[in-house]
Amino acid sequence: MSDPLLSLRGVKTDIAQYHILHGVDLDVPRGQVTMLLGRNGAGKTTTLRTIMGLWQPHTGDILLDGDNIARQPPAIIARKGVALVPEDMGIFANLTVEENMTLAAVSGPIDKTRLEWIFAVFPPLRTFWKNPAGNLSGGQKQMLSTARAMIEERRLYLIDEPSKGLAPAIVSTLARALRDLKQAGATILMVEQNFKLAKALGDHAAVMDDGRIIWTGAMAELATDAGLQERLMGLSMEHA
Ligand SMILES: Nc1ncnc2c1ncn2[C@@H]1O[C@H](COP(=O)(O)OP(=O)(O)OP(=O)(O)O)[C@@H](O)[C@H]1O
Ligand SMILES: [Mg+2]
Repeated sequence: MSDPLLSLRGVKTDIAQYHILHGVDLDVPRGQVTMLLGRNGAGKTTTLRTIMGLWQPHTGDILLDGDNIARQPPAIIARKGVALVPEDMGIFANLTVEENMTLAAVSGPIDKTRLEWIFAVFPPLRTFWKNPAGNLSGGQKQMLSTARAMIEERRLYLIDEPSKGLAPAIVSTLARALRDLKQAGATILMVEQNFKLAKALGDHAAVMDDGRIIWTGAMAELATDAGLQERLMGLSMEHA
């Protein structure tokens, strides 16, 4: 792969006394969507949190355009253009939608054109702009969480299971927003257990198991090979 935006090399992360990542090697190509897949507990969330600086790897390098961001604080990594949509959404329930969005824009005031784009893909955010984020429905909270990452043009979007627990209509709304983001040329590393969404958005796939990457290739290759899915993830994507 030529000149990836992000490269992880031998990344090992411990949480308390547990060894969780056992040497993750992963390349994330620019302007494309890489799906990080694997069984529950494989280490997908830990990988995204380690890239964001929320866990510190004890060894290994995380190169963002050649700049080693491993062991830098999350605020610095955010300012370098990395945004995380966390598994638990990570919004501030007591702040309004507007305040949540304003805080997510780390490099300055919110760009009006970009905000209009976000309102067009997620209309409830306009409706509830002045309301506390804690009052939003589950689907609207996921829209806000995704919108916080989208509010600025980022070098890298890390998105952790955006469709989790959401009704199909909301998943379609999110899929449309993520497709827009992809079409705008974004580089995305995304965890997604909804295989329909993973197949629709993913260019590449990286499969993790027990804290390591065990397979990388084209999403289309994985999506069409049920035997491979079974071997790598213990399940077939058609039945997930
Ligand atoms: N805060 C923590 N304290 C202790 N162990 C943790 C913590 N967070 C994660 N782990 C452990 O690390 C391993 C990897 O967890 P991680 O959340 O990265 O998996 P995942 O691939 O995202 O799984 P899922 O598909 O269920 O979201 C698991 O065994 C988990 O129990
Ligand atoms: Mg997870």
